[in-house]
Formats: sequence, structure tokens, C-alpha cells
Amino acid sequence: MTNEHETAPEPEHEAAHETAQGERPSLVSTMTLVADVEGWMSPGQGATLYDAATTCPDGGLIVEIGSFRGRSTIVLATAADPSVRIVAIDPHAGNDRGPQEIEGFSDEAADDHAVFTANLTRAGVRDRVDHIREFSDAALDLVDGEPDVLYIDGAHRYGPALADIRSWGDRVGDGGTMLIHDSFSSIGVTLAILRSLLFGTRFRYVGRSRSMAIYRADLAGDPAARTRNAGRQLAQLPWFVKNVVLKVLISLKLVKGEWPY
Ligand SMILES: C[S@@+](CC[C@H](N)C(=O)[O-])C[C@H]1O[C@@H](n2cnc3c(N)ncnc32)[C@H](O)[C@@H]1O
Repeated sequence: MTNEHETAPEPEHEAAHETAQGERPSLVSTMTLVADVEGWMSPGQGATLYDAATTCPDGGLIVEIGSFRGRSTIVLATAADPSVRIVAIDPHAGNDRGPQEIEGFSDEAADDHAVFTANLTRAGVRDRVDHIREFSDAALDLVDGEPDVLYIDGAHRYGPALADIRSWGDRVGDGGTMLIHDSFSSIGVTLAILRSLLFGTRFRYVGRSRSMAIYRADLAGDPAARTRNAGRQLAQLPWFVKNVVLKVLISLKLVKGEWPY
């Protein structure tokens, strides 16, 4: 798994996949599949998802919370071995849809569902993905097994984000990977991370691709390892503050720029 920060040169990352993967679709061809799929996943974050999916053990389980129109789902389903089960959980209900879209988007949500299905079909992975059209808490009883890879990108408010990290994170198998989008960017997600993972006893902070944080369920039990783990996460807080300031300035129309994700 790549410990890729936003400064990492993505072309090198792509080139490595071009030479390293035999029959598996390359990262470049995988990202080409989602070039026109709307969503909030940068190329570097796509590479991080690709890495997570390719390292998922044969016969394993990948669970995604928050699929929107399928941009990240398609990467996971394309990169994973055919023996890996892919579960995508999204109610397509019109709430917590995207940046500054907390509620009132039911018309758009109906489109999201249709476009999600069409995008997966076009990418050739519709049959590879079990879509559970439920909120993530309701889906807990609908999915059997321990995810080897869990990708959290659903509701970004503090309460639901904390519930996802705790209830779904608890189900990740030992040594498994948990990826969280909008980490150290969204206030709700970041507070949920600080509450549940900063001094947690199980997940080791590996790194991030922009706001996509990578955690691995292999944190050593000694106090020194836990202290280092907390320190590495605290070191992301200046970047978090920068993102919050930028979002305020963009919201007030004082600066023009890309919404940080
Ligand atoms: C930021 S988008 C996901 C983007 C997607 N991962 C991508 O790469 O394009 C958030 C999605 O989470 C979904 N969502 C909102 N609340 C949810 C919940 N409680 N459980 C699961 N999904 C949720 C929304 O319907 C929306 O499609």
C-alpha cells in the first residue's frame, strides 16, 4: 500500500503499476474508465484505492460506504481480483450527498442512483458489485464477514462519521485496511477521527493521499507505538486548519479555488 501524500508524483505511481501487474487492468486503464464519472476522488486517491483493492486477499471482502455515482466503486471493482466480493452501500437518498449538500437533494438522488447503475454497467462491473441501497447503519446486519478493505466516504457529519468508523471499523479484520475520505479536511470527519482513532488501540495511521487517510489494523500494543501513532495524526492538523480556512474563504466568495478534498 502506498503511503502517498498530496505531494507524491502520480506519474511514477502509475508507471509502477503499468510494469508490475500482469493481467490485471492497469491503474492507467482503470482511471480512464472513471475519467467522465462525476465524484470527489483525485487521481492520487484513485491510485490509493487501486492499491488497496489489488492487495485485498483472494476471496476477500471490500466494503465501500458512500458510492455516489460510482467513481470510487468502479476503481475498487476493476482493480480487485475476481474472487473478491465488492459491497457498495449508498441509500441514494439525497442527504449528505457531497460538499455543502447536507439535505434537500432528493431529485438529484434519483438521478444519482440511475447514473450509478449506468456508470457501473458501462465500466463492465455492474455484476461485480453488490449495491446495498441503505444507510450504513442499517446495512450493518446485511453484510456478512470481515472487510479486508473498508472505504468510508458516506455522511461527513460528526455523528454518522463516528458511527461508521466505530461500527464498521470494528468489523475490519486484523491487518485489514480502512480508508477514510475527507480526513483532515471535513470538520465532522476530522473530529470523528480524533475521537476514535487518535488514541485508538487498533488502527495505525499509514498516511494519506490528500484527504484520503489510510489506516491499517495492526497497531502495536506498546505505549511508544501508540504515542507515535497519535503524533503522526496530530501532525496533519496544520493541513486541516488550512483546509478549513480555505473552505470558509471559498464559501464567503473571497477566493476562487477548488474545494479541498
Ligand atoms: C461524497 S459522496 C461519495 C463519493 C464517492 N465515493 C465517489 O468517489 O464518487 C457521499 C455519498 O454518501 C452517501 N451517503 C450519505 N449518507 C450515507 C450513509 N449514512 N450511509 C451510506 N451512504 C451515505 C450519499 O448518498 C452520497 O452518494
